[in-house]
Amino acid sequence: MEFQSILSAATGEHGLAVNPWAAVAYLIAGVLFILALRGLSSPATAQSGNRFGMAGMAIAVVTTLLTHAPVTLDGGLDTIGLVEILVAIGIGAVIGIVMARKIAMTAMPQLVAAFHSLVGLAAVAVAAAAYLNPQAFGIADAAGQIFTVSRVEMGLGIAIGAITFSGSVIAFLKLNGNMSGSPIMLPGRHIINLGTLAAIIGLTAYFTFDQSPWVFWTITGLSFVIGFLLIIPIGGADMPVVVSMLNSYSGWAAAAMGFTLGNTAMIITGALVGSSGAILSYIMCRAMNRSFISVIAGGFGADAAASGGGSTEQRPWKPGSADDAAFLMSQAENVIIVPGYGMAVAQAQHALREMGDLLKKEGVNVKYAIHPVAGRMPGHMNVLLAEANVPYDEVFELEDINGEFAQCDVAFVIGANDVTNPSAKTDKTSPIYGMPVLDVEKAKTVLFVKRSMGGVGYAGVDNDVFYMDQTMMLLGDAKKMADDIVKALNGGGH
Ligand code: TAP
Repeated sequence: MEFQSILSAATGEHGLAVNPWAAVAYLIAGVLFILALRGLSSPATAQSGNRFGMAGMAIAVVTTLLTHAPVTLDGGLDTIGLVEILVAIGIGAVIGIVMARKIAMTAMPQLVAAFHSLVGLAAVAVAAAAYLNPQAFGIADAAGQIFTVSRVEMGLGIAIGAITFSGSVIAFLKLNGNMSGSPIMLPGRHIINLGTLAAIIGLTAYFTFDQSPWVFWTITGLSFVIGFLLIIPIGGADMPVVVSMLNSYSGWAAAAMGFTLGNTAMIITGALVGSSGAILSYIMCRAMNRSFISVIAGGFGADAAASGGGSTEQRPWKPGSADDAAFLMSQAENVIIVPGYGMAVAQAQHALREMGDLLKKEGVNVKYAIHPVAGRMPGHMNVLLAEANVPYDEVFELEDINGEFAQCDVAFVIGANDVTNPSAKTDKTSPIYGMPVLDVEKAKTVLFVKRSMGGVGYAGVDNDVFYMDQTMMLLGDAKKMADDIVKALNGGGH
C-alpha cells in the first residue's frame, strides 16, 4: 500500500481532510462525543456516556493514524516513526489509567487542572512544530511563506494554548495546596494584564504580515506570562470556575490547531469542549450568584476570609448528640438529607448511605437534596453519593425537592452551609444574596452537622438556621457523626 497516496488523498490544499472515509469516520466520532456529553449529564447514564467518548476517541485516533501515518522520503511506511507514536500513546494510556484509578474523589479538580495544562502544552507543541516545518503540514507555499489563514489559526492556537498551560499549572498548585489558595494581588495588575493582552492581540495581528521567529516566540512567551498573571489573583475557592474556564480555553486551542492540522475531529471536539466548558462556567457563576467578570477579576477568596473571621456572634443555639439524631430520624416519616462540602472533606458518604438504609428499614422515607454548587466542583455531591451506591431515584435536584421541605419532618444537613442559608433570600447585603438555596428552615426539625459554631462556609457568612428553635446542632466531624448515628440506629449507642 502506498502511504503517500493515502496521505495526499486525505489532505487538500490547506490540509483539510477531504478523504471521504476519513470525513465519515470523524463525523461518527463527533456524534459519539455529543452522545458522551449527553450521557455525562446524569449519574445514571455517565458510564455509557464515558463509553461513547472512549469509542469516539478510538475512532478519531485510528483514523488519524491511518490517514496521517508517518512516511519515509520514498513514500513507504516509516515503521520507526509509527512505533514511536504507538509507544507514546501506550505510555500516556498507562499514566492515565494509573492516575484515574488512584485519584481521591476530592482531588478531582486538581487532576482536571493538570490534564488541561497538558492540552494547552500540546496545542503549543503542535503550533511550534507547524511553525518550524510549515510545508510538512501543507500550510505554506513553495517559498516557505505560511498562508495568512494558517498564521491566524497558529497565533490563536499558541496564545490560547500557552494561557491554558500556565493558568492550569497555577490552578493545580493552588488546588493541590502547593501554593497558597488566597489571592495574590500584584499592584497595578489590571494595567499589566490589559497591556500584556493588548500586546498579544497586536502581535498576533502583526504575525499575519511578518512570520519572523521573534514575533512567534514573543506571542508564546507573553501568553505563558498572562496565563500566570490571570490566575494568581483568583482565590482557591473560585478555582472550580477557573478550571472549567480553562477547560473551555483548552477546547478552543484544540479547535484552532485542528484547523492548522486539517483535522476535522479536532475541530469538532475542540468546539464541543470549548462551548461546554463556557456553558458550565456560566452555570456555576449563576448558581453562586457571582458574575463571570468578578471571578476573572479575582480577589474573592480574600474578601471571604476577611468577612468569615468577624461574622460569628453569640446567639443561643441547641446542641444535640448522635443518639438524639438517631431517635428523631427513626421516629420521622420523611427525612431529607442535605450534603455539602464538609461531607466531602470528611468522606462521610458511605456512612451516610448506611444511615439512610437503616432509616429506610425503619419505614422512613429518605431523600437526598443536591444544590447545584454544593461542595467545590460541579456534580461533587452526585459523584460521591453515586460512589457510595445511593440509589439515583433518591437523589433530587434543588428545583425538584425544594417544595418538599415544608412537609418534611427532619432536614439532616451534613457539612453544608451556604446552600442552606436563608439570608440568600432576604438579606441584600449578604454575599450570597440572590443565590437559590435549599429551604431547610421550613422543615419541622433541622439537624445540622458541622465541626464548630465558629466555622463558616465558603462565602464566610453566619447562618440563621443554626439559631432557630427547631434546629439541633450536631457538632463533630461529619463521618464520625454519621458513624455514631449508624451505631445508635443499630441499637448500640456510641
Ligand atoms: P460550605 O458553605 O462551604 O460549608 C461547608 C460546611 O462544612 C461548613 O459549615 C463547615 O463548618 C463544614 N465542615 C467542614 N469540614 C467538615 C467536616 N470534616 N465535618 C463536618 N463539617 C465540616 O459548603 P456548601 O454548603 O456545600 O456550599 C458550597 C459553597 O462553595 C457555596 O458557597 C458555593 O457557591 C461555593 N462553590 C461551589 C462550587 C461548586 S461548582 N460546587 C465552586 C466554587 C465555590 P465547620 O468548619 O464548622 O465544620
